[in-house]
Amino acid sequence: MRVQVGIVGAGPAGLFLALLLHRAGISAVNIESRSRREVEDTIRAGVLEQWLVELMHELGIGGRMATDGHVHDGITLQWDGQRHHVDIAGLTGGKRVMVYPQHEVLRDLVAARLAQGGEIVFGVGGTVIRGVDTDHPAIDYRPDGDGPLATIDCDYVVGADGFHGPGRQAIPKTLRREYQKVYPFGWLGILTRAPVSWPELIYANQGDGFALLSTRSPEIQRMYVQCDPTDHIAAWSDDRIWGELQARLGTHDGWALQEGEIFQKGIIPLRSFVCEPMQYGRLFIAGDAAHIVPPTGAKGLNLAVADVLVLSRALTLQYLHNDRSGLDQYSATCLRRIWKGERFSWYMTTMLHRNAAESDFERRIHFADLDLVRTSALQAGSLAENYVGLPFD
Ligand code: PHB
Repeated sequence: MRVQVGIVGAGPAGLFLALLLHRAGISAVNIESRSRREVEDTIRAGVLEQWLVELMHELGIGGRMATDGHVHDGITLQWDGQRHHVDIAGLTGGKRVMVYPQHEVLRDLVAARLAQGGEIVFGVGGTVIRGVDTDHPAIDYRPDGDGPLATIDCDYVVGADGFHGPGRQAIPKTLRREYQKVYPFGWLGILTRAPVSWPELIYANQGDGFALLSTRSPEIQRMYVQCDPTDHIAAWSDDRIWGELQARLGTHDGWALQEGEIFQKGIIPLRSFVCEPMQYGRLFIAGDAAHIVPPTGAKGLNLAVADVLVLSRALTLQYLHNDRSGLDQYSATCLRRIWKGERFSWYMTTMLHRNAAESDFERRIHFADLDLVRTSALQAGSLAENYVGLPFD
């Protein structure tokens, strides 16, 4: 098969890119190692920055989000039994975020891409990216996981294939620099059938550490508690989970967290990671293939789509105006904004978790950081500006 852009991966980065390229008249195909079902069921954070909400509408895929998503104009920080409302809309001149789960975004993306006649090959195996340092790059893969080899000949290869995919590895090791921070804690996340307990997301650092109260719908809530990343899920009975959530989200004024049946639970590790550069020859990497953030601040999806927005503009400039300046600058342009997303995610994570490896001094500093958001409009403004999404420069 021959297309202009071969995309490895059909997660948010790969699918948004295919839709953006289609709009510019550039042909692309996605191959994906997971099944359609697995892609559409991936449970991740669900907060979309304002520009991303606008992009969904521009691409004609904002319909379900408009009815099922929830616009939030603030978040709540909690420590020491007290809550503090951060008025994001008020602090940013009216910008807001949308709470709409990533797997719903993926369903919208897959449906839209297939409806426009785009090809997504799910369940492939043995993907090999080759020739990206020549003018004739190609992607080899096995359509049904095994069986005969198929090839995509293309002008450009995009690795939007997640942290473990072959995309990043196709940049020679000697040219790549990777930056990583692994946190000594993880998140235990649950989905529960319970009513909404509080009108906005609560990020708390109380008792034994972090908890997050989020939502999926009026009937289904998403909550997390900080845990040991090596914990087995069996060590967390429902009673223990509710006990920790009540302790970390409890207030002095008698507010009660609404409990319900827990129908899904899992533990995720927390890590920060950046790969530089994000391009080599005719290869460009995007999303989790190039960078990971801990979920505190919900930046993962937003940063992934930001990459492919930059890339789609650069490819459009190349194809329509024979101007390669955007492609040459892709990595540098993305990384300026990515490092700020990394900084914000690290700041939120550090401030909101209890870290056994830190001294009491550092723990006090984290509470001072939280209180500064309460007392300083500039500090609150900075948090709000980052939370709704920094501008593209
Ligand atoms: C979620 O709803 O899953 C969620 C929300 C906000 C975060 C992380 C996760 O910062």
